[in-house]
Amino acid sequence: MFNKALYQYFLQVETPFYFYDISLLHKSLDNLTRAAGKYDYHIHYAIKANANDRVLQIIKDYGLGADCVSGNEVKKAVEMGIPSEKVVFAGVGKSDAEIIYAIDQSIFSFNCESIEEIEVINEWGRKKQKVVPVSLRLNPDIDAITHKYLTTGLPENKFGIPLQFLDRVIRRVNSLSHIQLIGLHFHIGSQIRELAPYIELCEKVNSIQDIIYKKHGLLLEHINLGGGLGINYEDPDAEPIPDFEHFFDTIHEHLKVREGQKVHFELGRSVVGQMGSLISKVLYIKKGLNKEFMILDAGMTDLIRPALYGAQHKIQNISRPGAQIKNYKYDVVGPVCETSDSFDDDVMLPKTKRGDLVAIRSTGAYGEIMVSQYTLRNKPKAVYSDEIRTASGNPLVIDEIV
Ligand code: LLP
Repeated sequence: MFNKALYQYFLQVETPFYFYDISLLHKSLDNLTRAAGKYDYHIHYAIKANANDRVLQIIKDYGLGADCVSGNEVKKAVEMGIPSEKVVFAGVGKSDAEIIYAIDQSIFSFNCESIEEIEVINEWGRKKQKVVPVSLRLNPDIDAITHKYLTTGLPENKFGIPLQFLDRVIRRVNSLSHIQLIGLHFHIGSQIRELAPYIELCEKVNSIQDIIYKKHGLLLEHINLGGGLGINYEDPDAEPIPDFEHFFDTIHEHLKVREGQKVHFELGRSVVGQMGSLISKVLYIKKGLNKEFMILDAGMTDLIRPALYGAQHKIQNISRPGAQIKNYKYDVVGPVCETSDSFDDDVMLPKTKRGDLVAIRSTGAYGEIMVSQYTLRNKPKAVYSDEIRTASGNPLVIDEIV
């Protein structure tokens, strides 16, 4: 992913910064749209994964819709030119201002998780004399087999309407004059690497649909299975593009789609995760009593995933690409005064010196977007592969791996 010319360019850029491999983003989107197109599945990109303008522009140009979880995300989608009829708006706690804005934009669907919220939306619909399209986000009680902070489909999670309430909720929603029930929504979690939870989800959806039809004579037009498809953090070069085809084939095999029904997804991480790397400079190699600390100029303010979830990202010393022997062990940490400001412990790397550049891989999703300015640190900038020119003015080709 990083060739010599690219490395030379990196040396001139102020660190830390996010590097986005735009050609990989295009390839991922090509694969995704081809695989989803096979079954006419509708994809709403989960803006929360990365809302960088250039990234969003490219995603929009592929015709994807947007999955938003705040009023500002809805605004961003609209401002980027994503048609409002492709915008869905989820979240357990939409404020009145957010609801009003989204109603005014005539978005495709409010994905709602409580009758309490639907009643408020109904009131705003009445005031605005609009019938508001709503999908019910159900909690299907499925273990997504992922980090406990990233699972959302279990009864102990705050998300979704419990299936036990479904009957009552449908009856109530049907009695509201300014709500139109258009679909069912599910999202069982994030960074899901096994397909078994999705198969279980499809089977649940099939039976829920049967029940709704039997009890209410209802056939809802839209089924939204959410996002969550995971990426390979351990070895990003082995799997730069997730296997979207296998994912959608599996869904197709297990989900019973009724006549006229449309199926939707809200993928985030799998679309943008592998195209990003956080590039940082080694400030110091500090000798501890029993270990050596590699202190980077990037910290938890630039990438919070390791501190927040204990997430592991592949760390590479890109100043020593030829070094095959990785026989030095470092605790790779940031400069922020928090013990949790650590990227990983006991990382095997070649002997590293002050000034070396390090790449923290697979940071295209939930990286830049989760940046904070704690301790008044600067925000890292973004560098886009397709904007880099060689000394002779030609675009840089970055496929060659060093
Ligand atoms: N739809 C809904 C309703 C969601 O809540 C999410 C993610 C997605 C779609 C997109 O999921 P994805 O395809 O990206 O897995 N900050 C965490 C991830 C939090 C995900 C929150 N919801 C991380 O860094 O791993």
